Amino acid sequence: AVEHRPANPAATSADRPIGFGRIQRKEDPRFVRGKGRYVDDIVLPGMLHGAILRSPVAHARLVSVDTTEALAHPKVHAVITGRDLEGLNLAWAPTLSADVQAVLATDKVRFQGQEVAFVVAEDRYAARDALELIDVEYEELPPVIDARRALDPGAPVIRDDLAGRTDNHVFDWEAGDAAETDAVFAAAEVVVAQEVVYPRVHPAPMETCGALADYDPVDGTLTLYETTQAPHAHRTLFAMVAGIPEHKIRVISPDIGGGFGNKVGIYPGYILAVVGSIVTGRPVKWMEDRSENLMSTSFARDYIMRGEIAATREGRILAVRTHVLADHGAFNATAQPTKYPAGFFSIFTGSYDLQAAHCAVTGVYTNKAPGGVAYACSFRVTEAVYLVERMVDVLAAELGMDPAELRLRNFIRPEQFPYRNKTGWEYDSGDYEPAMRKALEMAGYDELRREQAEKRARGELMGIGVSFFTETVGAGPRKHMDILGLGMNDGAEVRVHPTGKAVVRLSVQTQGQGHETTFAQILAEELGIPPEDIDVVHGDTDRTPFGLGTYGSRSTPVSGGAVALAARKVRDKARAIAAAMLETRPEDLEWEKGRWYVQGDPSAGRTIAEIALGAHGTVALPEGVDGNLDAEVTYDPPNLTFPFGAYVCVVDVDRGTGKVRVRRFVAVDDCGTRINPMIIEGQVHGGLADGVGMALMEFIGFDEQGNCLGGSFMDYLIPTAMEVPDWETGHTVTPSPHHPIGAKGIGESATVGSPPAVVNAVVDALAPLGVRHMDMPCTPARVWAAMQGRATPP
Ligand code: CDP
Repeated sequence: AVEHRPANPAATSADRPIGFGRIQRKEDPRFVRGKGRYVDDIVLPGMLHGAILRSPVAHARLVSVDTTEALAHPKVHAVITGRDLEGLNLAWAPTLSADVQAVLATDKVRFQGQEVAFVVAEDRYAARDALELIDVEYEELPPVIDARRALDPGAPVIRDDLAGRTDNHVFDWEAGDAAETDAVFAAAEVVVAQEVVYPRVHPAPMETCGALADYDPVDGTLTLYETTQAPHAHRTLFAMVAGIPEHKIRVISPDIGGGFGNKVGIYPGYILAVVGSIVTGRPVKWMEDRSENLMSTSFARDYIMRGEIAATREGRILAVRTHVLADHGAFNATAQPTKYPAGFFSIFTGSYDLQAAHCAVTGVYTNKAPGGVAYACSFRVTEAVYLVERMVDVLAAELGMDPAELRLRNFIRPEQFPYRNKTGWEYDSGDYEPAMRKALEMAGYDELRREQAEKRARGELMGIGVSFFTETVGAGPRKHMDILGLGMNDGAEVRVHPTGKAVVRLSVQTQGQGHETTFAQILAEELGIPPEDIDVVHGDTDRTPFGLGTYGSRSTPVSGGAVALAARKVRDKARAIAAAMLETRPEDLEWEKGRWYVQGDPSAGRTIAEIALGAHGTVALPEGVDGNLDAEVTYDPPNLTFPFGAYVCVVDVDRGTGKVRVRRFVAVDDCGTRINPMIIEGQVHGGLADGVGMALMEFIGFDEQGNCLGGSFMDYLIPTAMEVPDWETGHTVTPSPHHPIGAKGIGESATVGSPPAVVNAVVDALAPLGVRHMDMPCTPARVWAAMQGRATPP
């Protein structure tokens, strides 16, 4: 870890981008020319292909798996079953939540799509064909599909593999003070309650998950090309579970076609590719198809939240409390820091100054795919923001108050930061009112309300939705946060070559966010080397320092800090060497971007390139300084960062069909110091599309038998350019006081902040019909049913 934390000049800097600002993305020439190199592009000599046989039923005892015919297929090299894996002690693997998950089923299948057998064959087609030759006998059991029924007495016990397990209970967890909260509620003038469901959705990255394993039986090394957001953590876990020494494993995560949390976990397919390579002595590739991705890799959300909010009649919000039923599927494979079984859900207090707050979360097993990943969010902050922002609108309806005005009255005020909320988070900084006013002004809020009144008088359904969110991103400080015992820190190594060009090596892994550009920009800002002269290396455990990887918008808050501090170490070293070159004392030198010069004599100076050559050359080095301009840092952030934003959404609802059209969307974000404004806008655009998708279209549903109804893009609808408006973005800048350059994360803000804005707009449109709430996704069928005063159809 770093011994000292240099001052944070950006904390007081104005709205000025970092390191040459709005530059074009360095990685795009290869992407726009089709020269990206993804896992499925990699072909190794002698490579074989794997395919997974999956369970067609949600809950069944596995009676027998007969592989005779499949093995007789002329192109098949191996067929692996759960029994085979038992012999290797690999039938079960630990999940990121310290549960276990079946790699291949041995006793039962517990969700539709669960892995049952693995075929390795000459080509992808033969492997798929051979799956049909495997004869599996299932003895069907009643499934548990509705999380509300999971704890009923007599409900079938899904996890009878766990010793002593007699029900489907996973965990109970709470935050805040229950007694204090109950007391505030008991005395409050106004209390409103609402059940709010965040349905099961899926990150659905463009590139599905896959791996190519190459085990060398001669020297015992494993090279594993993987679609992973966390190559180092995966390598360590493979070493721990498979028993292959860590120094013999190299994980390479090449270009990644979107992660969004889907590529954090270790899926059975990755392990099976490794086993397949060990068994056959050949490289084995496994790439899932779209349906496999949607049905069996990690889902997100699936929270049934009962929210309550207490307030005065004048609209002062006093307290929020909630009980959550969390559907974790058949195995608890949620990815989050170990101490937080409900992720960062306890930030459901939102952006408001409350007297009390309490949440209780109960996790249950059901016969559905495991997951609970942070789909473009920091560990359940999405669910938290959706709950509180819906509840504030429900309260506004009850009080007959404007929802924007109600929010403005209750914000945490600037002088209250750093602000400790009622569940224990310390919000590092914030200035909410200017962001809110800016969004309202950009939207022309008052004018929109006038237009709405006119339309309502004519019977037209126009809705205006507002949301304001605070995120908690940059997990995190090792004293509080680890995943399976690995502290959530990240490393960076900076090396300035003799000619003044540089390389920075990162433990985080871009999946499209533009790290090759923005991390070069941080170094450029600190050392004055142009970004095009800086190579950014990531995604290869042999070429980068250890760290926990990219998810939860943690790259900039954690790794960005590491890069800035490593660059400052280089700068300090450069000062000592420049002093030797100039035959003066280091303390007599001044820094200007890219060069040290003698105080009072700006013409006497040395550029970073000159110093680098000196360092590697024949300059007589000062005592204790070695001959390079290299440095490395593992950064342990003192706190998370707390980006925030104000969103306004305008919708029109068709009275005849229930179809919602998002007419406008205004997003004002504050991520502290902005590195590259163009990349930030891109991140926000993508997140807003995510949010509109979840609010209106995306849904992984199940029938009573547990058949997945969201297993293709014909059923699991994601938005295209046709469904989204031209985004209107703005920003304010409130730098993080503890981050070395004052930056907060931005990667997921819009995914977190936009669903409540859209749903609030839809409910606002339907308010004249007496609608106070409706659950996502607001499909035409659901909106139509709500208009008729009917219960929500599936
Ligand atoms: O961890 P992840 O990269 O997904 O999220 P992030 O740290 O929020 O960064 C997303 C992208 O936005 C990266 O390219 C960042 O460097 C960039 N960014 C920025 O330009 N300025 C910020 N204040 C935060 C992020």
